[in-house]
Parts: sequence; C-alpha cells; structure tokens
Amino acid sequence: MLSHDYTYPEILQNSLKAAWTERQVLEGRDFDYSKRFLPNRLSGVDGIRCLNDGEKLKLNQIMGNAYCHIFAYVEEYIIPQALEAAQRDIYGDETRLRTLLRFAEDESKHQELFRRSTALFAKGFGVRCGLIPGQEDVAKAVLSKSRLCSYLLTSMIEWFTQLHYLEHVKDRTELDGLFRDLVRYHWMDEAQHAKIDTLLIDEIVREISQEEREAAVDELLELGGAVDGLLSQQADLDLESLEKSIGRKLSERDRTEIKGHTQRAYRWTFLVSGLEHPNFVRIVSELTTRGPAKLQAVARALSA
Ligand SMILES: [Fe+2]
Ligand SMILES: [Fe+2]
Repeated sequence: MLSHDYTYPEILQNSLKAAWTERQVLEGRDFDYSKRFLPNRLSGVDGIRCLNDGEKLKLNQIMGNAYCHIFAYVEEYIIPQALEAAQRDIYGDETRLRTLLRFAEDESKHQELFRRSTALFAKGFGVRCGLIPGQEDVAKAVLSKSRLCSYLLTSMIEWFTQLHYLEHVKDRTELDGLFRDLVRYHWMDEAQHAKIDTLLIDEIVREISQEEREAAVDELLELGGAVDGLLSQQADLDLESLEKSIGRKLSERDRTEIKGHTQRAYRWTFLVSGLEHPNFVRIVSELTTRGPAKLQAVARALSA
C-alpha cells in the first residue's frame, strides 16, 4: 500500500548497531550556559527587539529545556502504542516482535534521557523554569483516537525529530555540546522508528476503509490543535521564567512581542516542520485524497 523498502530485519540490525544508553550521553557532563542550546529556527529569539543579547541567550536556553520536556511529554503515548502493536502478533514474526519491543524500550529511554536533562538544567540554570504538566492525560487523549491517527502522529514526530537534527543542529558547532548530543542521540533512534511507523501504518491501512483513512487525518489535525494550545501555555511559562532569570518585569507590550516570536518558533518546531515534512506528506498523500491539502492549509495558518 505505502511505497517504501523498509523491513523489520534491516531495522533491527540498524537498531542493534546504533544502541546507546542515557548514561553514555549524560555521565560527567553539564550544559555550557555561555552558549545557546537551540538554533534560531527553533527558538526565534533573534527577531525580538525588546531583549538584549544576554537576555536572548537566557530565553534560548529556557526554550531548549522546554524542547526536551515537550519531547518527553508528547512521546509518552508511544510506549503503550508500540507495546500494543507488539502484542498483536506476539507468537508470530519474531523479528517484528523484537523490533517493536526495542521501539518501546527506546522511547522509555528517551523519557529518561529528557527527564535527566531537565533535572540537570534545573540544578544549573539558577532559576526554576515552569514546564507544562499533564502528560498522562495527553497520552490518553491521543490513544483514544483511531489507531491510524495515533500512528500518523508518531510518524510525523519521528520525521520532524530527524529534520531538526540533520538540518538545524548537526553542523551548528556554536551551540552547546551536550544539547546537540541530546538531539543527535534522539535522532539516531528516531531514524529507525520512522521506518517502523511506516511498516505499522501499512499494516493498519490494509484493514480499514478509505473514509476511515480520511477521518484519521481530521483527528490528527484536531490533536494538532490541542498541541498548539499546549505550546502556547509553554510560551507563557517561558515568559515567567525569563522574568525571573533576568530580574526584571516585562511590560505587556514586551511580553506580546516576545510571545509572538517564541510561539511561532514552537509552532514551526512541533507542528509545521512535521506537517510539511516531505516524507510525512508522501505517506498522507498515498493514503488519502483530501489529506495533503488539509495538512497544507493548517501548516500555512500556523505559520502566519
Ligand atoms: Fe523518542
Ligand atoms: Fe521515536
């Protein structure tokens, strides 16, 4: 159904070859607070006029910390999802089973990696930075949608994670080394996960109608709307953290200007870079007729 040349044996081999642990990434290391964490494409601080360079650096780091948190947050549902897929054919293809169990294990490792990195940041940054709560509720909301919808969301996340690293972090040696490694190690696993998602989506769509596929895209965009609300909440929390860390109260006008930039950057990072990702768009266009235009319209509205 979907055009691809991925297989479970090849994915499993790659996954075993690239294996890493959170300890390997974090042991004995710390962030360098004289450096930015995120490239400007993912933080948007360069365009802000009411902050000086030192303040922009703080905001960039606050957003970098939130980037780690949001990943742990939005990926929470992927663990039960991968386990459910593994269970479906528990006595069948052993390579498929092992690949999916590793998929679940990788995601729980990512949770631990990002939890530890936000704890490290909380110790070193100087002020406590607010992070959006409620990740279990969001996981439940995602899993209450159709299976195709939740796998499309996973696929979108796996593709944009790769894009963030390859196009925006990989060659940016001026960014903090530990932060770059967090994104790099995450990318190594997601490069295999994106293939697994394609295989799983291919399995799911064989059993469902064209109408159900079209409806899954609507559900996905509904979830996108909920994610957008969460990103706005995080942008508000970032403003509070910024005030604490720079030791001054921002005027209403300044807050509006800053949020305009950070919210647009968050939207690009966690929604638009996925909705427009060529590999994700290809999957949706192979499965649905109305889906691609809908993705494009939402991506455009979120970029305005
Ligand atoms: Fe992940
Ligand atoms: Fe993943």
